[in-house]
Amino acid sequence: MRSDETVTMVAEEDDKICGFSASTKFCKGFNSRLIKNNLFAFGMFALKLLVTSPKSLIRLVNNLTKKSDSVKDDEEYAELYSIGVSKSAQGKGIGKRLLTYSEKIMKENGVNRISLTTDFYNNESAIRFYHSVGYETFYEFVTYPNRKMYRLIKIL
Ligand SMILES: CC(C)(COP(=O)(O)OP(=O)(O)OC[C@H]1O[C@@H](n2cnc3c(N)ncnc32)[C@H](O)[C@@H]1OP(=O)(O)O)[C@@H](O)C(=O)NCCC(=O)NCCS
Repeated sequence: MRSDETVTMVAEEDDKICGFSASTKFCKGFNSRLIKNNLFAFGMFALKLLVTSPKSLIRLVNNLTKKSDSVKDDEEYAELYSIGVSKSAQGKGIGKRLLTYSEKIMKENGVNRISLTTDFYNNESAIRFYHSVGYETFYEFVTYPNRKMYRLIKIL
């Protein structure tokens, strides 16, 4: 939220937050820039992880970029990092509005492609949601340590 590269949205119903989305306008190098610009906070967090959960730290470092080894991907797109709507508010068009409004802002900022990664297995409802708002499969890949995922993409 502190980065000026991001587009962060919340949806409210009766003054309560019932949904959010978080995207960056520039996927390429975003995580590295985020760490460099918040070195102290990330350093403290990494130290804590090193002691409490070293495996998580290894996973974090290995997944700083998420892309296929076999498909050419220049990462020249915006990226949706996370979206969620609370259970009781799902199915009312809130997810779609969060996403289409984020895409509108990005398009106004000169972005012409947006991508996201999502789980391959046991994830039918999110995949159907993304297809219904115009995302198509770019490629499938496996992240560290062994998580099969889709990278989806949409031309804005
Ligand atoms: C995925 C999620 C963000 C969708 O938000 P939502 O507000 O429930 O979705 P909407 O009501 O805006 O639906 C938009 C479209 O997606 C479709 N859709 C949404 N959920 C669906 C489902 N479970 N199965 C089939 N289609 C679905 C809707 O039919 C609608 O299509 P339409 O515009 O053609 O009618 C929400 O269900 C959620 O938070 N899920 C849990 C977290 C999650 O999976 N996040 C994504 C992780 S990668």
